[in-house]
Amino acid sequence: MKGAHTIESSPASRRALAIIRGEHRSLAAVLWSLERLIERPDSGTRPDLELLSMMVDYIEGFPERCHHPKEDEYLFKAVRARTHAADELLETLALEHARGARMIHELRHALALYRVAGETARPQLGSLVAAYATFHWEHMRKEEEVILPLAQRVLEEEDWTTIEAAFSGNADPLSPAVAAATEPYGKLLDLITQQAPDPIGFGGEGLERPSPDYA
Ligand SMILES: [Fe+2]
Ligand SMILES: [Fe+2]
Repeated sequence: MKGAHTIESSPASRRALAIIRGEHRSLAAVLWSLERLIERPDSGTRPDLELLSMMVDYIEGFPERCHHPKEDEYLFKAVRARTHAADELLETLALEHARGARMIHELRHALALYRVAGETARPQLGSLVAAYATFHWEHMRKEEEVILPLAQRVLEEEDWTTIEAAFSGNADPLSPAVAAATEPYGKLLDLITQQAPDPIGFGGEGLERPSPDYA
């Protein structure tokens, strides 16, 4: 295949892959924190509603509104144009993007209900959070284990240049450099990084869902 080795190590591909993996880790960290905040059994008090709301705002505002659409429009489209090897999986992932948007909408609704109804609405909110987190862990795992390695093998330099430009266009508000300069996301990042275990942090290679630790 033309230029496979040089393409894999090109600056554009490295930057694009680093951005995509970094965005996955931000979402992973928020999902972990969101689940823990809702499900912690030793909490005798209500979870911090402002923090819950900030996490849902982040998921709606960045992964759902920016990350997934850019995968559809640039990464998946480029892979499809170079190979049919993953057509079925790419179709599944695109459908999951649409399903995720519906799920976060339901989750937002359940959070609003919890604000008003209190603890009676907590089980429903908890089950939606757990379902959304499991759904997204599996979704990101398929992207990281199948699609990104395939993209590294089949995409050309021009593809990576376009993908990198698209993903660089709007920065993840939870990337450390951006979050440090913005009040709500800086606070959220601090809270998450204080609590979340490795490998969820922001530097690991693998994406692995940690065991819950409510101790
Ligand atoms: Fe995705
Ligand atoms: Fe993704």
